[in-house]
Amino acid sequence: MNYNQALEKLTQYDQIHLLKFYKELDDDKQRELLLQIEETDFSIVENLKHRASETKRGKITPIASMEIDEIEKNKSRFESLGLDAIKRQKVGAVLLAGGMGTRLGSDEPKGVYNIGLTKDLYIFECLMNNLMDVVNKAGKWVPLFIMTSDKNHERTVGFFKEHDFFGYKDDMVWFFKQEMAPAVDFEGKVLLETKSKISTSPNGNGGWFVSLDRNGLVDKIHEMGIEWLNIFAVDNVLQKIADPVFIGASIDSAVEVGAKVVRKAAPDEKVGVMCLEDGRPSIVEYYELTEQMRAERNEKGEYAYNFGVILNYLFSVSALERIMSHKLCLHIVEKKISCLDEAGNEIKPNEPNGYKFEQLVLDMIHELESCLPFEVIREKEFAPIKNATGVDSVETARELLKKNGIEL
Ligand code: UTP
Repeated sequence: MNYNQALEKLTQYDQIHLLKFYKELDDDKQRELLLQIEETDFSIVENLKHRASETKRGKITPIASMEIDEIEKNKSRFESLGLDAIKRQKVGAVLLAGGMGTRLGSDEPKGVYNIGLTKDLYIFECLMNNLMDVVNKAGKWVPLFIMTSDKNHERTVGFFKEHDFFGYKDDMVWFFKQEMAPAVDFEGKVLLETKSKISTSPNGNGGWFVSLDRNGLVDKIHEMGIEWLNIFAVDNVLQKIADPVFIGASIDSAVEVGAKVVRKAAPDEKVGVMCLEDGRPSIVEYYELTEQMRAERNEKGEYAYNFGVILNYLFSVSALERIMSHKLCLHIVEKKISCLDEAGNEIKPNEPNGYKFEQLVLDMIHELESCLPFEVIREKEFAPIKNATGVDSVETARELLKKNGIEL
């Protein structure tokens, strides 16, 4: 794309300010900027105009979860079903590690964070240890796909190599990059990260299957005969990955997706809650639950909306392929975005200064026909690291790891 073509494209989206410093750049930098303008989908920014429609929901009703007592009764049957699927290489795992982890406040990928106290123990290492438990039990490697973004890809891949994949078989691990989206100020003007670079950020965790496909890995998945993909977040250091009991229960229930859930700590806890929306599986955010819904009880006398999701799902590959072309809604999220000011000076804001556009995994659930919410015990499987201190932090995760006998 040449300068005039770039100008034409930017005029169409009212973003010509992105060429403001063009004349100051050397040839290479000019080419880089033009290429980025060519590749960027500015139509995303139009979503700012339709924000109101984002909140329109269907009729929300409760969904039944498979609870601990029922799981315990069937545990050995589920476990052998799950182990059998792993042994036949029907199950792959997908680590979602493309996020920016801004709340943790480190410039590094979240997974390289060292949470050890008397020894090194990296977040990635905790996850690999958890996956190794299953590999050892099944006597079979679980193919692992790791999603990164432009912002952290090299560092993530390098880190795994430096640490010999934490004992994992390196040819059973595939890295792939997710897509990026432009970031804007509150007026909808795309921000510049440098004079030659548009500010972009990872486009949320909802595009993971499309990104897998764009990187040729869905073909690989077919080649290997994988039928189920267990996706999981980078920040929950206690979670079980490719958990045979969960896999067995999902297969046995013949659902399109299994979702690990925990009992909410309080009716107003800030977690996404499993429900039905117009009769289909769905997840409502805590702020979408009305007072009445929060207080509603089921026939057992328990809260009807009692189970929160922990971003650990088992998806059927064929169901994912069916919904792959469905457009997920874009969430507009206020964030602190490092950028240039009008004069071209770098700013690192302390308060949110603009919006990022994100697709979320939770919106994929509503596209599917059936879901099994599968209860896990919070203290044993949920230690998310979102913040450096306080709620869902390094501190709380360390406590939970210690309680579960993990040496720090
Ligand atoms: P979070 O919602 O916690 O976002 O991600 P984040 O970007 O990591 O952290 P903050 O909000 O900036 O502090 C939940 C999971 O989804 C992944 C994250 O890596 C994490 O495993 N994720 C998030 C992606 O893979 N890509 C994204 O674009 C966003």
